[in-house]
Amino acid sequence: METRSFCIKDILKMTDEYLNKKGISNSRLEAEVLLGNVTGMSRVELYVNFDRPVADEEKSAYRKAISKRVNGEPLQHIVGLQPFRHINLKVKPEVFIPRPETELVVERILEISRQLSGRLKIIDIGTGSGAIALSLAYEILDSYIYAVDISETALDLARENALNLGLLGKVFFIKSDLFENIDKEVVSQVDIIVANPPYIPTNLIENLQIEVKDFEPKEALDGGKDGLGFYRRIIRDSSEYLKSGGFLVFEIGDGQSERIIKLLKDNNCFEKIQLSKDYAGKERIISAVYRNQQL
Ligand SMILES: C[S@@+](CC[C@H](N)C(=O)[O-])C[C@H]1O[C@@H](n2cnc3c(N)ncnc32)[C@H](O)[C@@H]1O
Repeated sequence: METRSFCIKDILKMTDEYLNKKGISNSRLEAEVLLGNVTGMSRVELYVNFDRPVADEEKSAYRKAISKRVNGEPLQHIVGLQPFRHINLKVKPEVFIPRPETELVVERILEISRQLSGRLKIIDIGTGSGAIALSLAYEILDSYIYAVDISETALDLARENALNLGLLGKVFFIKSDLFENIDKEVVSQVDIIVANPPYIPTNLIENLQIEVKDFEPKEALDGGKDGLGFYRRIIRDSSEYLKSGGFLVFEIGDGQSERIIKLLKDNNCFEKIQLSKDYAGKERIISAVYRNQQL
């Protein structure tokens, strides 16, 4: 791609066409985000400076970024950031990139939080970059969050994001295989347990788009043979931590709702099961209320 002596407007137009030809759907937006990252300008600033020539070093950095993108590397890894609701999260290749539909999980928890009172105690299982945990800490003023992950790299990143957002005092990080290292004596009577666990059936991972199968960590995707392994374990163990009347909230994969509802019903401790849809109209979130049968 020859870009010598071109200005921002020309370069954006050429890159838009090039990315589009390579099958990248949001080509114009991605061209702007990548050029903004290289020049240190916001997207608005790019528009205000449409006729500014692009310096040689910027062109060469931009070419490298475009080539990574065309080879399937996710935009977020190239720029190192992902906006999520009201916060900006640092991302890196070893940690799952938060998705827009997960913002709706936070939305659902905000709805739930309005039915509860006092300081909310919440566990986020499989926190990754901290997207859910940190958004909740940011948006629910009177809350205390336990952010759990099996991956030390994910927890380090989530901690760094918490520090950048001034939320370290509200979020406690635990390295654990689901509930294994969460001390029941210390963490009990929890109001909400939320999880966006790995939910892709193992044999389908190879069919996912390149951005996911080659650039997301496998342990963030692999939900076992039928994709439901983590839901089974979380449903089984969450009753040890939830208070009666507390909520279990899951992000779920396409086509999994009926089987997860069955798991909740078979457990006999969950009621008021509710499904919510994502932006594409797919069933994406399940919530249920825990009832302690001994009370
Ligand atoms: C799909 S990602 C979700 C990340 C984040 N909650 C989000 O929504 O962007 C699943 C996360 O679960 C974590 N994970 C996988 N197996 C786990 C386990 N056994 N115990 C705790 N976390 C686990 C992965 O490391 C990954 O960060």
